[in-house]
Amino acid sequence: MSKSFDITIESLALPSAKVTPEGCGPEIIRAEIANPDAESLSFAANKSFFIETFGCQMNVHDAEKVAGVFLARGYRAAQTIAEADVVLYNTCSIREKAAQKVFSRLGAWRGMADGKIIGVIGCLAQQEGEDIFERAPWVSLVCGSASYRKLPQMVAELEAGGRRVMGLDLDTEETFETEITRRDNPLRAYVTIIEGCDYSCSYCVVPHTRGPERSRPSEAVLSEARRLADAGYTEIQLLGQTVNSYRDPSSRQLGFVELLREVAAVEGIRRVRFTTSHPNDFHREIVEAIDSTPALCDHIHLPVQSGSSRILGAMRRTYTRDEYLEKISWIRAARRPISVTTDVIVGFPGETDKDFEESVTLLDAVGYDGVYAFTYSPRPNTLAKTMPDAIPEAEKSRRLAVLQDRQRQIQIERNNKLVGATFEVLVDTHHAARAQWAGRSTSNLIVNFTSPHQNLLGEYVQARITRAAPFSLVGEQVI
Ligand code: SAH
Ligand code: SF4
Ligand code: F3S
Repeated sequence: MSKSFDITIESLALPSAKVTPEGCGPEIIRAEIANPDAESLSFAANKSFFIETFGCQMNVHDAEKVAGVFLARGYRAAQTIAEADVVLYNTCSIREKAAQKVFSRLGAWRGMADGKIIGVIGCLAQQEGEDIFERAPWVSLVCGSASYRKLPQMVAELEAGGRRVMGLDLDTEETFETEITRRDNPLRAYVTIIEGCDYSCSYCVVPHTRGPERSRPSEAVLSEARRLADAGYTEIQLLGQTVNSYRDPSSRQLGFVELLREVAAVEGIRRVRFTTSHPNDFHREIVEAIDSTPALCDHIHLPVQSGSSRILGAMRRTYTRDEYLEKISWIRAARRPISVTTDVIVGFPGETDKDFEESVTLLDAVGYDGVYAFTYSPRPNTLAKTMPDAIPEAEKSRRLAVLQDRQRQIQIERNNKLVGATFEVLVDTHHAARAQWAGRSTSNLIVNFTSPHQNLLGEYVQARITRAAPFSLVGEQVI
């Protein structure tokens, strides 16, 4: 019989992870145990680990699972790199800057490497492979995300005197299932439903770093959702690079929308989010499901990348501007307002002023609630790297600033219209100095608010908006 445990930070010893992107200060760390009766291959008497993570939510969640693998095998969580026996650097290689950071960080660890296992995991590990040993000989483990299930054997090999181990297989059919997941966010639990990516966008390293698409059996997803609800979670975020390409490999053969509805029906789960949706697999049924299922959050992240059909073609995104806008029209026709956010790349090779202008006008045409914009970065093994007509860095930066400026105006206008409205907020932060609480609406907007109450962390409260800023709302609790 599988049971669930809710473990607080005290019983897990010390925080063992530095997570850069989300910055959720863990006041409670929940470890949720999938199968505590599984045979424990404990090989680490009194040893400890530390994981430092960069990258997207998938990387952040991988770190939670890798931490679980170590805990399940008797390791304890170290508070600092200096005191850890195993130090893992969970890397991202989506843009050149992220990749450069890895080697400068590894350089800084050189002096601390003695007597430790230093490992590089994640997307740059997969991309650079053996070369990492050349550039940083104090590293003894290199492992990409598609090989994480082999981590215990790899560490055991090193502990038995092995010098270097690598896990770089990409052709696996399997997904990464763990006995324990050591969760860093006490309120929002990540659940992977699909790994890898079968698209081949011409600028992107992900298909090379995470391998082909593999969906998890629906029962594994649903039982994880039930365990999370038992452990006290009310919000789940389903993850995948193309989350809406999900296809249940089990005999139930659920589609993405059916899975969404079943996760939303798990008792105790009040909010279900999902990211990232690919426009090509975005169907009207997703909007219908959100419209008819209160637990499905009214927010869709739908990366467009460019507003120019010509550039979308060169990017191999498989849709045109008009096809994308048609999908947006389904979202806008929903009965409840659904917020839409996106990713945009500026300065793709050959992007003319006119192409760029189309990205800017698309912002107005859609009315996004948030845009993550990036300057194009040429990446190894991608088609775009060999394309002519590179845009100079200074021009890319100029375009980025123009786009961000326009989006800021749009957000000011949109948020101003919300003054006077009331939102349900799941409280995740207390700003003691400002005497404010903060949390997210189901549409994923940040709401800062005042309240006469104390200890609101983890509560759902109603907040009335009194003031709007471009990136957040300000209000007061409705008592
Ligand atoms: N799977 C998601 C995107 C994952 S990567 C999707 O298909 O939309 C996250 C974002 O990084 C992308 O949406 C894109 O905007 C950006 N990105 C990816 N490769 C990039 C590159 N070479 N240069 C700049 N930005 C890039
Ligand atoms: Fe990269 Fe495209 Fe796959 Fe997204 S869909 S991960 S951008 S290849
Ligand atoms: Fe980075 Fe890999 Fe995610 S390249 S964005 S960590 S999938």
